[in-house]
Amino acid sequence: MNSSAGGASDKPRLAVVGGTGNLGLGLALRWAQAGYAVSLGSRDAQRAVAAAAAECAAQPGVSLAGGGNAAVAAAADLVIVAVPFAAQSATLEDIRTAVQGKIVVDTTVPLVPPKVMRVQLPPEGSAARRAQNLLGPQVRVVSAFQNIAAAHLRDLSHALEGDVLVTGDDAEAREAVVRLAQAIGLTAWQAGALDNAVVAEALTSVLIFMNKRYGFDGAGIRICGAHQAG
Ligand SMILES: NC(=O)c1ccc[n+]([C@@H]2O[C@H](COP(=O)([O-])OP(=O)(O)OC[C@H]3O[C@@H](n4cnc5c(N)ncnc54)[C@H](OP(=O)(O)O)[C@@H]3O)[C@@H](O)[C@H]2O)c1
Repeated sequence: MNSSAGGASDKPRLAVVGGTGNLGLGLALRWAQAGYAVSLGSRDAQRAVAAAAAECAAQPGVSLAGGGNAAVAAAADLVIVAVPFAAQSATLEDIRTAVQGKIVVDTTVPLVPPKVMRVQLPPEGSAARRAQNLLGPQVRVVSAFQNIAAAHLRDLSHALEGDVLVTGDDAEAREAVVRLAQAIGLTAWQAGALDNAVVAEALTSVLIFMNKRYGFDGAGIRICGAHQAG
């Protein structure tokens, strides 16, 4: 992974593909607030530029850029993909060339409306495995953020809580994404190989069910017993 332009910062330049949406815009805002250079991506470059400008106007001290998905991915060191499952394949095809050699964070939950409270997994086993298959072996796919409610991200006055399970086949890439989650106040854990992403992806349907059953406002998860052994 390259460092930021000019070498003045050890923070990677981030692109959020699907950055005009609920989760993507919320994550982008949090990382911008934490001092990262962040660009929003969209299928429509002008939509991303407008969304970035609107957020900069609304949130003092926050700086965001915008552009087409492939363009912002090409200019970034690390790329986060935040699009609906139904859009995942087409989106990854669009950015595949731009992300070769980079870390790509897949946030996709393989929800199949209307039964979003029921776990429905793709034939590959997980959306993350589908992403790795589509992007190829030169891309380090890391899966994270499936259990963080987007609504909590957008309100920057609201401290985030909840744990993030970070899976991927490259330990260095997993740790880079753990640091990204920690930078916005979340607790994050390396949770093993990319195929383990199925757990976080499936948990989201459980959380959506619990939100409805108990009236929770965006339930998340917390790992207990997390004290250092020895
Ligand atoms: N919302 C949450 O609380 C939450 C929490 C954890 C994980 N997730 C996961 O994060 C991902 C994004 O969720 P979200 O709620 O942010 O989604 P969203 O707001 O519905 O969509 C995100 C962006 O994806 C693009 N998009 C939408 N439909 C598309 C299509 N058919 N083809 C290509 N691009 C399309 C749009 O950007 P443009 O129109 O600008 O291209 C949109 O702004 C999903 O996989 C979701 O399961 C969501």
